[in-house]
Amino acid sequence: MFKNVQTAPADPILGLTETFKADSNPDKINLSVGVYKDATGQTPVLESVKEAERRIVEQEDSKGYLPMTGEPIYCTRVQELIFGEDHEIISEKRAATAQCPGGTGALRVVGDYMHTLHPDAVLWLSDPTWANHNTIFAAAGVKCEKYQYRDPKTNGLDFDAMYESIKKIPQGDVILLHGCCHNPTGIDPTPEQWSKIGDLLAKQGVVPLVDFAYQGLADGIEDDRAGLLELTKKVKQMVVCSSFSKNFGLYRERTGALTVVAENQEQAARVMSQVKLRIRYNYSNPPSHGGQIVATVLSDKELRAKWVEEVAEIRDRINEMRHLFVKTLKEKGVEQDFSSIIEQRGMFSFSGLTKEQVDRLREEYSIYIVGSGRINVAGMTPDNMDRLCEAIKAVI
Ligand code: LMR
Repeated sequence: MFKNVQTAPADPILGLTETFKADSNPDKINLSVGVYKDATGQTPVLESVKEAERRIVEQEDSKGYLPMTGEPIYCTRVQELIFGEDHEIISEKRAATAQCPGGTGALRVVGDYMHTLHPDAVLWLSDPTWANHNTIFAAAGVKCEKYQYRDPKTNGLDFDAMYESIKKIPQGDVILLHGCCHNPTGIDPTPEQWSKIGDLLAKQGVVPLVDFAYQGLADGIEDDRAGLLELTKKVKQMVVCSSFSKNFGLYRERTGALTVVAENQEQAARVMSQVKLRIRYNYSNPPSHGGQIVATVLSDKELRAKWVEEVAEIRDRINEMRHLFVKTLKEKGVEQDFSSIIEQRGMFSFSGLTKEQVDRLREEYSIYIVGSGRINVAGMTPDNMDRLCEAIKAVI
């Protein structure tokens, strides 16, 4: 089984972190994996999370298995966070949620569901998209195609091209949309554009699968639902994969969810019974701790308010770094126009740096950026900005 096995290629994102860790340069900078750093370069545990953990340790009285779909109170809070407490999808019980090990775990379960129950359905991914989307769905046996998204000329959204390519998607296929803070580009449609996308999907009978991993990092917890809520007005069926790695800082706790929106309660229950089968053979039931944290924070008025404040701090710091980055590049005399980075949202931006420039930054300056030129703005700090911009100037 092992003798002739070849070494596998490194993961384009997590593999870089492994190389970064092995780099002995004390001034190394990691702008690859999407992990938030504060101004001192640390990835903090949020205070709201710490307090929730204290309460959990105090009150937890069992380590028995969770249900296959996780903790019911967590699933309720997740739905409220996605749609808003008063949304009719919740009052009509049209949604069913399963707690999953991270957004990745949720996506994989969707892949297994598609492959086994709708083997002919194709999944349409934005070009570009998160590198792991292709891998997860290919592993599940789902065929993936691309729809147009970014305009390389403006480093913005090419909405007309996106719209035209969605028009070609056949009925019964699934389209993956990033709920906000598109990964890797940081470019999102406007609410008006979301509304048009929703109309088109409804007309064509294409089901949206919304990857919602950055709620709160663009404009705010409520505001960042705007696109997804436009879709709920237009389509009757939808799937949402949530992740709380970024907005709760729960990266290593693998805290996510899969929410199915069906036409009615009975349909949602049937779909969830099929989801449960796929959960059982993948990981049986989800890990508990991260879900308990999210449920505890969202169930307590004061903790929730503290969390909203902490998410705002994260968002504001990232936006400050966007401005400082563009300003510092200008001050260093870089002529290439990076100003679109200011308009982009969330952790990531497409820098426009070429593969060769990215390689030089890593090899000569110990600056780590994903090969596509995606930069994690949340890894920039006031202290590493000069060195970063000088190195970029040198390679371009
Ligand atoms: C990223 O895109 O860097 C994050 O979502 C982390 C990951 O798992 O790739």
